Amino acid sequence: MAQKKLSGEVFLPSKAVIEKATVKDWDVLNKRAQEDYEGFWSAEAENLHWFKKWDKVLDESNKPFYKWFTGAKTNIAYNCLDVHLTTWRRNKLAFFWEGENGDFKSYSYYYLNKYVCRFANILKSMGVVKGDRVTIYMGRVPELVFAMLACARLGAIHSVVFGGFSVEALHERLEDSKSKVLIVSDGSYVRGKIVDLKGIADEALARAATVEHVVVVKRTGHDINMEAGRDYWYHELCALPMGNQGCEAEVLDAEDPLFLLYTSGTTGKPKAILHTHGGYMVGTYASLKYVFDIHEEDRYWCAADPGWITGHSYIVYGPLLNGATSFMYEGAPSHPYPNRWWQLIEKYGINILYTAPTAIRGLMKYGDAWPQRHDLSSLRLLGTVGEPINPEAWKWYHRVIGRGECPIMDTWWQTETGMFMITPMPCVPLKPGSGGRPFPGLIMDVVNEDGESVKANEEGFLIIKRPWPSMMRTIYNDPERYVNQYWSRYPGYYLTGDSARRDEDGYYWIIGRVDDVIKVSGYRLGTAEIESALVSHTSVAEAAAIGLPHEVKGNAIHCFVILKEGVEATPQLGEELRKHVGHEVGPIARPENIEFVSSLPKTRSGKIMRRVLKAKALGVDPGNLSTLEE
Ligand code: WT7
Repeated sequence: MAQKKLSGEVFLPSKAVIEKATVKDWDVLNKRAQEDYEGFWSAEAENLHWFKKWDKVLDESNKPFYKWFTGAKTNIAYNCLDVHLTTWRRNKLAFFWEGENGDFKSYSYYYLNKYVCRFANILKSMGVVKGDRVTIYMGRVPELVFAMLACARLGAIHSVVFGGFSVEALHERLEDSKSKVLIVSDGSYVRGKIVDLKGIADEALARAATVEHVVVVKRTGHDINMEAGRDYWYHELCALPMGNQGCEAEVLDAEDPLFLLYTSGTTGKPKAILHTHGGYMVGTYASLKYVFDIHEEDRYWCAADPGWITGHSYIVYGPLLNGATSFMYEGAPSHPYPNRWWQLIEKYGINILYTAPTAIRGLMKYGDAWPQRHDLSSLRLLGTVGEPINPEAWKWYHRVIGRGECPIMDTWWQTETGMFMITPMPCVPLKPGSGGRPFPGLIMDVVNEDGESVKANEEGFLIIKRPWPSMMRTIYNDPERYVNQYWSRYPGYYLTGDSARRDEDGYYWIIGRVDDVIKVSGYRLGTAEIESALVSHTSVAEAAAIGLPHEVKGNAIHCFVILKEGVEATPQLGEELRKHVGHEVGPIARPENIEFVSSLPKTRSGKIMRRVLKAKALGVDPGNLSTLEE
């Protein structure tokens, strides 16, 4: 099809890529989805299994609490597992896994289902029923996937806490979700060292009251404390007779909750984003199918962590819904050497690799020789997510990892959106640094303060103007905050919290967060969490956190601290505070730098003006200072 000439630097898909692509013409698909939006989504839903079909595709009767596929009965775990068991996929590999220490495991759909049912029976025996919350806190091991699917099977609501979080972060999430059961691994391997997850969990449990039982999965085998009557070894539970029985998937409402995932917002505590069985299932299924174009024989690797939305949607649910074969790797990309990933790609013949700009930049730093030692010719498609990718890193990824032939799917989305929202597809022309256009059918816009669309290439607020199936349904326990935070700034439209530009070709360029969220190595952290960890230290009176540009991490955390009367500012104290934040929130939140100050810029109403701190640190003009108190 004749392409209109696009502005700027453009990479066109090769003939080979187009030939293999399932969608050959993006415009045709988009036109169909735009013209009959509900028809588009219901056609996707038809590919999945429903115990009972829906009465309505989209129910807008109680905006912004949109509902999808109302009246329908389904279960996402049933669609991930059971549906494949009656086909030849029964013996297809669902997952294969390598540990950082070289351990290897693989699971066919048949066996994955067995393990999931067993785990579900274990949870049942602990009294877990539909609607109960179960927190999962583990490293990247297969049991994490079993646990998530086991919850889904029962209609229990899982809340996965990233294994890189620590005591207070875990405590807060246990408490807010009022989890009945915690599933934890004894430890995880990170760069050859053991992270004592059970030890962290014990500390968090001492602060939290609702957990009745703890299931402990043995991974590292180091000495841990097991509290009698509360803690149980997973492998011992598996050996009990109930472990071997099947477990029917609960027949659920399309709108029944599937999971909570905590994420940082503008102010205060992390909020529990709630997703449901039906709509989330349809959104993740279709988006993965179209964007990563998974063919039956593909070996797909999403290198994210299951503890974040990328892992939920595109390691666990999306791939299994598509009957794909996925690879999961436990460790860090550069351990023990910077070729670990490239070695894995060669060894397993990975066809699709989906990762984050920070990983790409981190590996790029070691030079071309490491990847060039490996045969990466199995790769067909690449992907990136989490933060804007700088064109240099994009081009390195494309040229060195993708042989100049693999298109890069730069996918913009959020915990809240559940699925890709701005994304290319293999057949579309790419511009390095841009994710291209919204997923077919979606309507997005870039607007000014007054909600008017800005001109091409002008910066503005990124908003979404139409509901979509895998959208968050609410903030668990806080529907008011859901309305205020996402739907009030521009009534009727969803506020993303990002600023962006849209160019003359309709391609979106994400600039970054406009709120108090800092993206560190693609991880989403809130200034409030870091600041409250700092003030929980006995020496600290007040604190402010900001993100400053960092070559590999994208942003690094810089903190300004006012000490209590009589406390002396020393480098040792600075170090202690950094460690303290690491212990409370997690290593990912450990500040890069702590600066002791005697005052902080505030508005007359007492809010810290972080943009002023940032401007000062960067040596740029702080802009309008009329609200500054002093
Ligand atoms: C925020 C959402 C969704 C998976 C991981 C992040 C930023 C995400 C991109 C991208 C530029 C991106 C945005 C967004 N972001 N993907 N391709 N290009 N920025 O999920 O933790 O909920 O964070 O990540 O700022 O709002 P999340």
